[in-house]
Amino acid sequence: MSTRLELLWIEKYRPKKLDDIVDQEEVIQGLKNLLKGDIKEMPHLLFAGPPGTGKTTTALALAREIYGGQWRDYVLELNASDERGINVIRERVKIFAQYFTPSEKAPFKIVILDEADMMTSEAQTALRRIMEINARVTRFILICNYITRIISPIQSRTAIFRFKRLPKEGAIQYLKMICDSEGVECSPDVLDKIYEASLGDLRKAINLLQSVSTVTGGKPTVKDVESIVGKATPEAIVKMIDALRMGDFNSARNLLFDFISVSNLDGQEVIKLIFNELMMRNLLQPEVAEVLAEYEYRILTSAYYEIQLTALLAKLSRLLGSRGQ
Ligand SMILES: Nc1ncnc2c1ncn2[C@@H]1O[C@H](COP(=O)(O)OP(=O)(O)OP(=O)(O)O)[C@@H](O)[C@H]1O
Ligand SMILES: [Mg+2]
Repeated sequence: MSTRLELLWIEKYRPKKLDDIVDQEEVIQGLKNLLKGDIKEMPHLLFAGPPGTGKTTTALALAREIYGGQWRDYVLELNASDERGINVIRERVKIFAQYFTPSEKAPFKIVILDEADMMTSEAQTALRRIMEINARVTRFILICNYITRIISPIQSRTAIFRFKRLPKEGAIQYLKMICDSEGVECSPDVLDKIYEASLGDLRKAINLLQSVSTVTGGKPTVKDVESIVGKATPEAIVKMIDALRMGDFNSARNLLFDFISVSNLDGQEVIKLIFNELMMRNLLQPEVAEVLAEYEYRILTSAYYEIQLTALLAKLSRLLGSRGQ
């Protein structure tokens, strides 16, 4: 196998056709139905779901199905969390939509707007206007992780497609296909371990497979996977809870933020891991459970989950600290 990391496998193996997307059956079926109908009637779309489950890939595959080889001419990809904000989106969409005459082959152009849930509600209200103004010649595909962060006037004007974490079978089959194609020797245990660490995020699983294959010359073992995952395993969460029980808030916070930066998990996923670990260690007293539930809710509605997680640690350190010694 090649030991060069030049080409990322997540790009090399990004499916190009809707039929090649792993799982997400409901989404794919729904989109195929749209394509079967009068394409001019296609509504704006909203793709929601966890990271690495195929949202961007599906949006691009859909564009390919509609326009064929020339799809790039008809697609504008924007990121809503661009710091320059809604005015840039307005300008770019305006220029993109200008002078475009709809035809049979290309009845509209497509704007893919990633991370739409990172926009403030004011910006989303402005976005809704932009969508309306350009509705004759464009369709939007909005992409987000949390649908609850999208204002309801937008939700009600889009067809919503929910992406799910990839189940084990489909994900592992995909990893196996990559191993075969790259000449990587991977036992079922190794693939299981990779899937476990990925939490149903196929991007993460493929990246992990590529890293571990590269450092082992294509013969990774379970131990190799564990050592690469390192800080990104729930081990970091275990240590963080130990620190909280010792009343060491600062260490707990450092462990948590190291973990977040390495693992790329979001606030809700981190809370889930904390919840699981506390439950397994029989530390989930009623007050602790209430605090977790409260912060899980807060994180859903807050732009900076880091603040909420820090406050959560402060509370947990008070609740668990007295039990640590
Ligand atoms: N359902 C899937 N089928 C096949 N490959 C997938 C799927 N989901 C993810 N992948 C792989 O992971 C990579 C990342 O997927 P994609 O960019 O579509 O994720 P996403 O859902 O848009 O994530 P994010 O929310 O982080 O933007 C793809 O290039 C592809 O290799
Ligand atoms: Mg994406």
